[in-house]
Amino acid sequence: MFQTASISRRRFLEKGAALSAAVAVGNRAVGAGQSAPPARKIKVGVIGCGSVSRMYFPNLAECPCVELVSACDKIPKRARDAAAKFPIGQHYPHIDQMLAGVPFDLLVNLTDMQEHEHLNRQAIAAGKHVWSEKPIANSLAAGQELLAEARKKGLRIWGAPTVVQSPQFAFMARTLAAGTLGRVGAARASYGHLGPDWAEFFYTKGGGSLPDLGVYNLTFLTGLLGPARSVAAMTSIVIPRRNIQDKGEIAVTEEDNAMVLLDHGQGVLSHVECGFNYFNPHDHAYTEQDHHTLSVTGREGAMHLAGYDWGPHAVDLSTAREPAYKRFADAPHDYVWQSGASMVAECLATGKEPLFTPEHALHVVEIITAARQSQQTGRHIPLQSTFKWPVVT
Ligand SMILES: NC(=O)c1ccc[n+]([C@@H]2O[C@H](COP(=O)([O-])OP(=O)(O)OC[C@H]3O[C@@H](n4cnc5c(N)ncnc54)[C@H](O)[C@@H]3O)[C@@H](O)[C@H]2O)c1
Repeated sequence: MFQTASISRRRFLEKGAALSAAVAVGNRAVGAGQSAPPARKIKVGVIGCGSVSRMYFPNLAECPCVELVSACDKIPKRARDAAAKFPIGQHYPHIDQMLAGVPFDLLVNLTDMQEHEHLNRQAIAAGKHVWSEKPIANSLAAGQELLAEARKKGLRIWGAPTVVQSPQFAFMARTLAAGTLGRVGAARASYGHLGPDWAEFFYTKGGGSLPDLGVYNLTFLTGLLGPARSVAAMTSIVIPRRNIQDKGEIAVTEEDNAMVLLDHGQGVLSHVECGFNYFNPHDHAYTEQDHHTLSVTGREGAMHLAGYDWGPHAVDLSTAREPAYKRFADAPHDYVWQSGASMVAECLATGKEPLFTPEHALHVVEIITAARQSQQTGRHIPLQSTFKWPVVT
């Protein structure tokens, strides 16, 4: 069963890579429409040439604001292969060599979740802007330090996910703001699959289903409903030992199953569930997904997101006035989740700002650490961080 899922997931990545390459030329998600040629190209170095890099590299290679100058991986063959394929002038086996090598402006960090914080810190110390896969850092405090350090040096740091950039997010945010659903008190979201089998880090401390999967729903729901004030959660490990390619059996030490409750204030509660034990009859190929993964319900209406929040297709809306479900925000669009690094390169080149912010990413980091604390203590955990909201005006 697990093996089947991993084949499916690889197929999903291949399909996604093809789609990414196909739409990347037209991808102007930050500018939301064709923009003038960039004032300059941003020199980009990519660290981490594993699975997700197969989605990022085609997108970066097609971005008019990007010049790919270096690739780095501690497994040298991966960096070498990526450099040959895209093509990229230099490749390195270590960040020290990368930072001392051919100059670049933006580090794109696609390494293991546990590696992001220290590599991001090292890049900022070396004067680089940073785009980081999730999470930016392992804790709110460490992330805030990174952000402060970047600002002191006149640098920028951003982190995945980019879900608030989709047209479906904008539609749902505007529908809420317009009061179409009446008084809203509840929302929920769900994301899971059977778990990756190509790297151990997903299952060890600092990994887990919350920062890998739940992070999308948590970003989307807090983006819609506002920063959370407190968290209550239960997490568990369903499969304590897993088989990982090239590694064999490993012990799972971080949650592969999580249920998280968020209090957004003024009576608004939401719920996220995620895990590495979710059978999906539709496979993981997001272009075919149509089931509802995220819902918001009010006293006068309900809306449901069709498809994953990182690959959405439409929003189905029913109201007291028009109870039959109608489909909205289903026009073809060029939002793709793997374009975050290209978007921030465009921002650096043109001065535009994306809708996602590092403060929002850090709020979600705090929710994840609070969820684990809630599981350990059996308590509701108050949150300190916040971010600029509403995201879409
Ligand atoms: N694979 C996906 O579908 C996917 C999708 C979205 C986001 N992500 C995120 O992308 C990140 C990477 O995931 P992945 O699936 O690509 O993992 P992966 O194991 O396939 O790739 C990670 C790569 O980083 C390299 N690496 C690790 N530490 C390094 C270091 N200190 N210096 C240089 N290289 C280093 C590894 O050798 C490996 O090649 C994670 O944060 C994950 O949550 C993955």
